[in-house]
Formats: sequence, structure tokens, C-alpha cells
Amino acid sequence: MELLVIKPSGPLRGQIRLPGDKSISHRAVIFASLTPGTTVIRNLLESEDVLRTVRIFEELGVFLRCLKSGDWIVKGKRSEELRAPRKILYCGNSGTTMRLMMGVLAALPFRSILTGDRSLNRRPMERVIEPLRRMGAKFHPFFIEGERHIEVVGGDLKGIHYNLPVPSAQVKSAILLAGRTAGVKVTVKEKIKTRDHTERMSRFFKRSPGRRRLIIPGDPSSAAFFTVAALINPDRFTRLTIKKVCLNPTRTGFLTVLKKMGAEIRIDHEKYLCGEPVADLVVTPCRLRATHVGGKIVPSLIDEVPILAVAAACAEGKSSFRDMKELRIKETDRIEALIHELPKFGIPMTEYKEGFSIEGEGRLYGAKGDSLGDHRVAMSLAILGTVAPGRTRVNDTDCIKTSLPEFFSLMKSIGVSIKLTS
Ligand code: S3P
Repeated sequence: MELLVIKPSGPLRGQIRLPGDKSISHRAVIFASLTPGTTVIRNLLESEDVLRTVRIFEELGVFLRCLKSGDWIVKGKRSEELRAPRKILYCGNSGTTMRLMMGVLAALPFRSILTGDRSLNRRPMERVIEPLRRMGAKFHPFFIEGERHIEVVGGDLKGIHYNLPVPSAQVKSAILLAGRTAGVKVTVKEKIKTRDHTERMSRFFKRSPGRRRLIIPGDPSSAAFFTVAALINPDRFTRLTIKKVCLNPTRTGFLTVLKKMGAEIRIDHEKYLCGEPVADLVVTPCRLRATHVGGKIVPSLIDEVPILAVAAACAEGKSSFRDMKELRIKETDRIEALIHELPKFGIPMTEYKEGFSIEGEGRLYGAKGDSLGDHRVAMSLAILGTVAPGRTRVNDTDCIKTSLPEFFSLMKSIGVSIKLTS
């Protein structure tokens, strides 16, 4: 099991370019596989989660090859040309793979079986199964040695008009992908807007028939870790530029919150890449103030809550995070994980049913933290270690490979004192 050891360091300086956004990378693989013709994808995130989606399409008979790091060629097929899988489709830790593939498989006229790791097999899938059943697909969950498997018998779907009961882009996308793959009309209404990468990717593929070249913008969820690292660093020479970050408004809630906390983040070179707004972020340290996060902004920052909690721990005053019941069903119960881990570093916290509050600027000290198998908890604790006096160890950090295998080398490259041991 890998272990990270971090010591306070500064200044943090440099220019970094992050691998492609995870949500967009999954969708790029899915759309490229399901659209006849050749698609070249650049800056694809080659993390464990995205590679699960790649392997599933290989099993369905699609040709996908890595040309060089981040660059892939995909020869897509019509849905009638896909073949029934001969193996159980393993989604690992990736909720996006499982939920989006359920939508695709619901439209294909054969039987498939999906499963994942222990964390994924405990996460709710009924929210996706229910609308897809209404469209005509059949789902049969069963257990082998305690691990959930889901059999999908697809084909012959009818359209649906669906009001999303939970603000989930994965549920929305599963329905949209089922409709697109089956060639039936679906409409999905949402009360709170969730990330719209599926809709944007669908427009991109409609606009670009024949040979397509997709460039995936840098992942804002990964950028959030480096942004907070630079903001809380006490060294006045700290200055970090993060190039070509996806600034889709359904993803930038963390920037809105950090700015409200007093952060100075410059946005340079704004442009569009494959239908997604991107720009460079230039971050320098500053004093942060406590804040309140809740309501409609929550879906646009749901993956960034652990690192925003670290920012709040370094801010002046008491911050509160509310309306976040979805956090309880991520890779771990992230509310419980933060309540368990942050107080070890001298950070006072209070747990609520759907959130937590956190006292900033307490007496912070380095400590032994545990990722609890969650990549975003692991990276958040490592960032905390860059300012917590003393030495911080974060246990069980292999999980970081699910979303950002380059985390360690990127941290080193900007000047963080970090060691990887096992
Ligand atoms: C994702 C949607 C979000 C997010 C997840 C990726 C996606 O999940 O937390 O990391 O790619 O659609 P929900 O749709 O369950 O909110």
C-alpha cells in the first residue's frame, strides 16, 4: 500500500498542464466508440477510472489504441455492430463508468453483467435503473460472494420524459445515452443544473462528421487541489499557473466559493476547446475568510468539497457546508471521512446530516491521515500537509490513480516536499 509523506514547503511555483477532465474523458471514449468513423482524442485522462470505460468498449468490439501518452485513436461502430460481451464488465471504482454504461447497454440487444470494487458495489444504482426500466430495459442485480453484480438485458427501448429526482449528471447522462444509442426521443428535466458535458459532447459529434479530433480540457477538479495549495501557502513568492483548465460553469462552483473567501485567481487566455470553455488560472497566496456553502451551487462543486474543507480550515472564522447529502454516497461517505480525518490535524469540526461546519485557523499540525480508499480525500490531506507544521503521512494513497496518477510528480514539480513510500 502506498503512503505519502509531506512537509510544509514553499514557495510553490511553476506552470502545470493537467490531464484531461475525467467526466469529459469518459464521454469522449463513449461517443467516439458509438459514432462510426475515426476519432482522435488528445489529452485523454489515462486514469484507472477512464481506462475501465475503454476496456468495456474493447470488450464490445470497438478498436481503441493509445498512440502516445494522452493521444488515442478510436474507430467507432454503429450500435448494431457491437458484440455481446464474453466477460463480466468490471468498472472498478468508477461510478461514471457503471452508470453511463448502464444507459448504453440498456439500448443494446444483448445481455451484459456489470460489477465493480467493494466501494462501487455499495453505491446506489437504483436511481439509474428506475428510468431505464421504464424505457424497457431489464435489470437483475445479484450477489457473488457478497459482491453486487447487475445483469442488464437491453434493446427495444421506448422514449421517456423524465424529471430528475436527484441532481445527478450521471443519471441524466445514462438516460440521454440510452436514448441516443437506441435512436428514441428522451427529455430530461432537472431542477438544479448539473454538469452538461454529455449534451456538449453530443453537439460536438453532430457538428463534426467524418474524421474528428477532440482535445480534452484540463480537469477542474484536479486543478482545485493545486489552486488551494497555492492560495494557502504562506510564502509570498508562491505563484502557480494552471494551463487550459475546463471552466464549464457547471464545474466552477469551487472558484466562486474561493473568490467569495477572498482568493485572488486570475483567469487568462479564455477560449473554447471542443465546445467547452477553457482558460489558464494564475494563483497567488492570500488570506481567506470563512464562508457558507449550500443550495443551488452544490452540484457545481460536489467533487471539490474535501479540498474546499481544507481551504476553510486555513481561513479566518467558522465555515459551514450544507445541502450535501450526495456526499454521503460518493467513493466513501465524504462527510464522515472529513469528520474522521481533519480533527487529527487540529481542525475542529461539527457533523450535520447533510454537511458539516469547520473552524478555521485553529492550531494546525501535521498528522497521520488515512484516505479511507477515496482519491479526493487522499489528495486533500496531502495538500493540508503542505501547510500543517511538522510531518504529515497519508496512508493508502493508491486510490489517487483512479483520477490523477500524475499527482505525485505534479506536486514535486511545483516545489512541494513530498515522498512516496510503500
Ligand atoms: C460525474 C457526475 C457527478 C460527480 C462524478 C462525475 C459525471 O456525480 O460527482 O465525480 O461524470 O457525470 P453525480 O452525477 O452522481 O452527482
